[in-house]
Amino acid sequence: MATHGPQGSASSTAWMERESRVLMRTYGRYPLVVDRGEGCRVWDVDGTCYLDFLGGLAVDVLGHAPRVIVEAVARQAGQLIQTSNLLYTLPQVELAEFLVDHSPFDRVFFCNSGAEANEAAFKLARKWGKANRRGAYRVIAADNSFHGRTLATVAATANPAYRKPFEPLPEGFDFVPFNNVDALEDAVTDDTVAVILEPIQAEGGLFAADDRYLADVRQVCYERNLLLILDEVQTGVGRTGTLWAHTQWGIEPDIMTLAKGLAGGFPIGAALAKEGAAVFEPGDHASTFGGNPLACAVGLAVQREIDRLGLVEHAKTIGRYFSERLEDLGARQPLIKEIRGRGLLIGLELHQEIAREVLVDLRDRGLIANALSARTLRFIPPLIVSQEEVDEGIAILEAALDARSAGC
Ligand SMILES: Cc1ncc(COP(=O)(O)O)c(C=O)c1O
Repeated sequence: MATHGPQGSASSTAWMERESRVLMRTYGRYPLVVDRGEGCRVWDVDGTCYLDFLGGLAVDVLGHAPRVIVEAVARQAGQLIQTSNLLYTLPQVELAEFLVDHSPFDRVFFCNSGAEANEAAFKLARKWGKANRRGAYRVIAADNSFHGRTLATVAATANPAYRKPFEPLPEGFDFVPFNNVDALEDAVTDDTVAVILEPIQAEGGLFAADDRYLADVRQVCYERNLLLILDEVQTGVGRTGTLWAHTQWGIEPDIMTLAKGLAGGFPIGAALAKEGAAVFEPGDHASTFGGNPLACAVGLAVQREIDRLGLVEHAKTIGRYFSERLEDLGARQPLIKEIRGRGLLIGLELHQEIAREVLVDLRDRGLIANALSARTLRFIPPLIVSQEEVDEGIAILEAALDARSAGC
C-alpha cells in the first residue's frame, strides 16, 4: 500500500513546491509526482507504485510505455519527425487511410488536440454554411457540454466557470438542454448551421445520450439542412466498447472530432468529415505540427495494436465487468448512489460531497482515479486493463469507502 500523507512524501513535496514557483496555476493537481509507468501502473518519485485508473485522462489506451509506442517513436524519430505540411509524408496518409477505412468519413484534418479538432469542425461548419445555408454560422451545443479550452471551444462549452473569466467569448453558440430534441428543434433559426454534441457528456458528469436522442437529432439535422458534429474526443478510439461511440446509437454524424486515445498519449487530434462537409480548400486551415510524421506513425501503430489485441471488444467486456463489480459494491456500500457510463468510461456518483477526499485516500491506498464533481468519481483506465486489476482497484475503492462510512 502507498504510504503518503495528504501532501505526499518529502521528495514529492519538494517537486510540488518547485512547480508552484514556476508553472502557471492552471491545474488543481492531484498530490502525486509521477516518475514512470508500465502497463496500468505508475511509480512516483519515491518508487511507490499505483494502479492507474486515470489513464492520462482517457488517453493512455495501451497503458504506459507499451512496446509498440516506444518502437514507433524510436523508428520514426530516427527517420523523420517533422517536415511541415507543405510536403507530403507517408505516416499522415497511412493514418488518414486507416481512419477513413474504419469509419463512415471520407477526409481527415490532423491537428494536435481535442480543442483544435473542434475548432476545425467549427470552421468547416461556417464555411459550409456560406455555400449551403446562406451564411448561417451559429452552432447549437448542449447544456453541460465540454468541448475544450480555446476561446471558440469555451464558447461552445456550457460550464459558466470555464466561460465567465474570458467573456466576451466568440459569438455564435446557442445552448439547449441535453436529451431534449424538441428544445433543440425550437432553437434552430435561419442562422443555425450545425449542432455539436458528445454522445456521452464526459467532463459534464458522465451522462449518455438517451437511446433515441441522437437519431432524433440526426433527423432534425437532415430536415433542417444542418451539419451534425459529434465530439468523440473522449468517447472515441474504443473507450466506450465500440471504436466510435456513435455507432451504438445507429447514426452517422457529418463530422467527428478525435484526440485523446488516437496516438495512445502522443499529442494528436483529428477532425473527420463526410465528403460534403469536408469543404476546406488550400489556405483555409492549417497547423504547423498537425499531422506530423511522428504523431501519425505513433497513431497508426496504436490503432493497429488496438485492432490486433481486440481492445475495443475487450473495453466492452471488461467495462461491463467493472460496472457490474461497482454495482455489487453499491449493494453493500451505502455511500454509492449510481454507476454511469459505458465500456471503460465509468462514473460513480456518491451520496455525499466527498469525492476529492476519497481520491486522496485512494491514492494513499495505491489507486489513481479522478473526480468530475464533488460527488462523482471517474474511472478511465487504459483499454488493456485486466480483470485482476479491476478487482484490485475495486478492493481499494471498497476499503476507502468503508473507512469513510466508519468515520461518518
Ligand atoms: C469531449 C471533449 N472534447 C474536447 C476536449 C478537449 O481536448 P483537449 O484537452 O485535447 O484540447 C476534451 C477534453 O477533455 C473532451 O473531453
